[in-house]
Amino acid sequence: MNEDVNGHRHLLAIADVDRDFIISLLDSARSFAEVSTRPIKKVPALRGRTIANLFLEPSTRTRISFELAAKRLSADVISFSRTTSSISKGESLKDTAKTLVAMGVDAVVIRHSSAGAPKMLTGWVDCSVVNAGDGMHEHPTQALLDLFTMRERLGHLEGLKVAIVGDIDHSRVARSNIQALNKVGAEVLLVAPRSLLPERIEEMGVDITGSLEQALEWCDVLYLLRIQLERVEESRFPSLREYTLQYGLTKPRWQNLKRKPLVMHPGPMNRGVEIESSVADEVESVITGQVTAGVAVRMAVLYELLGGSHG
Ligand code: NCD
Repeated sequence: MNEDVNGHRHLLAIADVDRDFIISLLDSARSFAEVSTRPIKKVPALRGRTIANLFLEPSTRTRISFELAAKRLSADVISFSRTTSSISKGESLKDTAKTLVAMGVDAVVIRHSSAGAPKMLTGWVDCSVVNAGDGMHEHPTQALLDLFTMRERLGHLEGLKVAIVGDIDHSRVARSNIQALNKVGAEVLLVAPRSLLPERIEEMGVDITGSLEQALEWCDVLYLLRIQLERVEESRFPSLREYTLQYGLTKPRWQNLKRKPLVMHPGPMNRGVEIESSVADEVESVITGQVTAGVAVRMAVLYELLGGSHG
C-alpha cells in the first residue's frame, strides 16, 4: 500500500506491501466474508463514497467482484469499459481519469493492458488507485484472494509448498503470487517449459522444474495457469496437445496421486489444456471458492484504502 503526498492510499503491487499488511488484510477479509453469508449482504462502511471501475481489458470475474465488493460496502459504483467509454473515441487514459475525478470519485479501480498504467494514473488523479491487473506486471488482489483461500483451506501459509504451473512468463497472477507467497514464508516451485519462464526468474526466490510429476509429489497446492494465447506472440511449445501431455492435470495423473494437493486456478480455465474437464469438475469447489474469496478480499482492500480514518 503506497500513500501519496496528498494522503491518498493506493494498492498497485504486492512488491509494495509487507508481510504484516498481507496478514492483516487477510484477517480483515475474513470478517468481510461473513457479510456475504447474510441475507442482507451490505454494511454501511463506505456509504457516500464513489468508486469507478475502469476496465480497459476483458474481464469477467475481477470486474464483477470489484463491483460487488464496492456495493456490499454501500459505496456508489460507476463502471467503464473500453467499448462504452470515450476511450473508444480516442480519449486518452489521462483525460478519462481526470473527468472521473472531476465528478468526485474517491477511488479508481483500473485494469489495463500496459504494465505501469495504474502507477501512472496515481500521478494524474487526486484519489486512490487500485491495480486490477496491468499487462504482464501485477495483479495484487488476485494474489491476496489466493492466499486467503490457501489459508482458509489449509490453515496456514508459512512453510506451505506451492507449485505454480504453466505460462509464468505472461502471467501477472504468477508475479504477484510469487512475491506474496515469499513474503508470508511459503515455498514456491515453478513448473513450466523454459520457453514459458521469464529470464532470471530464479532471482525472485523460486525453484524451477520441468517435471509436473515431481511437483505433484512435493506440493500442498497446485496452482494452474492459463496459457495466455492473446499474449503469446509466437509458438512457445510444439502444440497445445503436447503442452497438455507434459504439463496438464490429466485424469490419469490426478487419479494416480496418493496425496492430492489443493488445486487452484485464477480463471478463466481452458478445459482440456491445463486441466482435463473431468478433473476440473472434481476440484471446482476450490476454484469457485477463490471467486467467493475475491469479493471479501476486495471489500477489505477498498475499506483499507477509503475507510476508517483514512481517505
Ligand atoms: C487472470 C488475469 O486476468 O490476469 N484472470 C483473473 O483476473 N481472474 C488470469 C488470466 O487471464 O489467465
